[in-house]
Amino acid sequence: MARTVIKDQTVWITGASSGIGRALALGLAERGNHLILTSRNRQNLVDLAGSLDCSTTVLAADISEASSTGLLRDELGKLEAGLDMAVLCAGDCEYVDTRNFDTNVVERMFNVNVFGLSRSVEAALPALRKSQKSPNIVGISSASAITGLPRAEAYGASKAALVSMLESLALDLVHEGIAITMVLPGFVDTPLTQRNDFPMPFLMSPGQAASIVLTGIERGNRRIEFPRRLIWPLRFMSLLPENFRLKIGQRMVRRE
Ligand SMILES: NC(=O)c1ccc[n+]([C@@H]2O[C@H](COP(=O)([O-])OP(=O)(O)OC[C@H]3O[C@@H](n4cnc5c(N)ncnc54)[C@H](OP(=O)(O)O)[C@@H]3O)[C@@H](O)[C@H]2O)c1
Repeated sequence: MARTVIKDQTVWITGASSGIGRALALGLAERGNHLILTSRNRQNLVDLAGSLDCSTTVLAADISEASSTGLLRDELGKLEAGLDMAVLCAGDCEYVDTRNFDTNVVERMFNVNVFGLSRSVEAALPALRKSQKSPNIVGISSASAITGLPRAEAYGASKAALVSMLESLALDLVHEGIAITMVLPGFVDTPLTQRNDFPMPFLMSPGQAASIVLTGIERGNRRIEFPRRLIWPLRFMSLLPENFRLKIGQRMVRRE
């Protein structure tokens, strides 16, 4: 499949300081792009910027705060030639314990994963509209969006909402020439998953995940899901009649 290398672009990466976002920053820096790096911890971004062999701008912000939208929009608005790509990777994961069901967990997950991405889209759109290249929004969802999984009432629901939001954005922005790429990764070895206390099948490194994502974007894929060995069983489960899905899914439920 034809592939156009991402090069000489201005790329904004949220969640750039760690895990998948950091690995994407390394891959995009190697290709020769100007990177705008966002996450909450400014020092981590400064350290990362210092280690990259490309031009960088550090733009620290907390996307779970409503006030971040204006700050980010103003800063991105200063880019004279606009923004070519927004890689929206910042996110968090918490699991739900249904014995003590707590809506605060759901609220926290939606605030960073859904509203945070929405704020980032709002902030990036004016700058993306100025791009003379082929502007693209890349949203990082999760394989957990494919079907309901145990303890994912907050995280999985937020990532499924994200897929729906990105699918709608793809329709509404196509006439403006702004593309949407949605990414549904399986388990990647990052600080986020290092907290998990359950087996993570087909765990991969952030570098492997970033390589799949960047190759997928370069091939023009609009939906990048991996690894297939995890995606296909999840898709199969999502297509089953509900009673069968319950029978299979129950085996994954933890009983203590
Ligand atoms: N790892 C996996 O297996 C996996 C699988 C599927 C999907 N994902 C998704 O991939 C994305 C990256 O996850 P990761 O595994 O790479 O996690 P990670 O290593 O914990 O990185 C998360 C990044 O997001 C930033 N961040 C978190 N909250 C933020 C906020 N409120 N405002 C701004 N930045 C914030 C963090 O930096 P600060 O703490 O400095 O803000 C960090 O740079 C997430 O959206 C996650 O849901 C991960």
